[in-house]
Order: sequence, then C-alpha cells, then structure tokens
Amino acid sequence: MLSEKITTALNQQIAMEAYAANYYLAMASWCDQQGLEGSAGFFYAQAEEEREHMMKIFHFVNDADGKAIAPAIAQPPSDFESLAAICKTALGHEQKVTAAIHAIQKQAMSEGDYRTINLMNWFVDEQLEEENQMQGIMDKLKLIGNDGTGLYMLDKELGAKAAAKEAGEED
Ligand SMILES: [Fe+2]
Ligand SMILES: [Fe+2]
Repeated sequence: MLSEKITTALNQQIAMEAYAANYYLAMASWCDQQGLEGSAGFFYAQAEEEREHMMKIFHFVNDADGKAIAPAIAQPPSDFESLAAICKTALGHEQKVTAAIHAIQKQAMSEGDYRTINLMNWFVDEQLEEENQMQGIMDKLKLIGNDGTGLYMLDKELGAKAAAKEAGEED
C-alpha cells in the first residue's frame, strides 16, 4: 500500500508527465509550421514518450492499490522563437521533472517504500538520458549558429533519430 504522501506525489508526477507530453506536442507543431519536419518528428516522438511515462506511473499507482487521477492539463505556449529556444525550454522543463523525481525518490527512501524506489530508479536513468540528449542538441545548435545548411542537416538528423526510435532501434 502506498502512503498518502507518495500517492499524492505520484499523482502530481502523472500531471507533470501529461503536461510535458502536451508541451512537446506544442513544440512539434511549431516545428511543423516552420518546415522543420525532422525536428517536428523528434518532438512528436518525445510527446509520445512522455505519455508513456505518465501511463507507467498511472498503472503503478493503481496496481499498488492507490488511486491514479487523470489530470487536468494546462495549455502550454504555442509560439516559440527558434529551435534553440525550444531546446532551452525543453531542457529547463526536463530539469524540473528531474527535481520532482528526485524528491519522490527521497520520500520513498525515507518510508522504505521499495516499490516506489524501484520505479523511480527507472525514471532517474530516463531523466539523465533525456537531459543529455537535449543538451547534445543544444551544443550542436550552438556550433551551427545562423548557418541554414547546418540547421537543415540537424533537422534531418533529428528526424532520423525519431524514425529509429519508432522502429525500436533506440529506447
Ligand atoms: Fe517524462
Ligand atoms: Fe522527459
């Protein structure tokens, strides 16, 4: 049985993952409008991943005899300045998610709640991967600067990344 504190925290995390999914969807839409098709594909895939994160916690709560709550989702921004600005925002949001995951992990540890600790271990690894990925894209964007050809190539690369993910070549 999950404690009330953990149940509340996990439901907040469900809401956070749902918001992240919608945020990435908004980013994907903007990229689509700009002709950045590869980047759009990448962010659509990110949105799906966040939805999977949400469902992972959702089922966990219900399987552990807690009550998972389908969250209200605030509307994310729909206008962005550039792909670089999007990545900066995305990294900032991922860092917020990481902090929330760490807080749940800390609480679960203090309660000796090994099931939640185990679930959160997965998320700790996942967050590290996502932060590194976003940082990597930002580093490339910095190198590219205002070079249109560079941006075109990065966009293609992001599209290929999304396609590989969809094909199950990456997790
Ligand atoms: Fe997530
Ligand atoms: Fe994420």
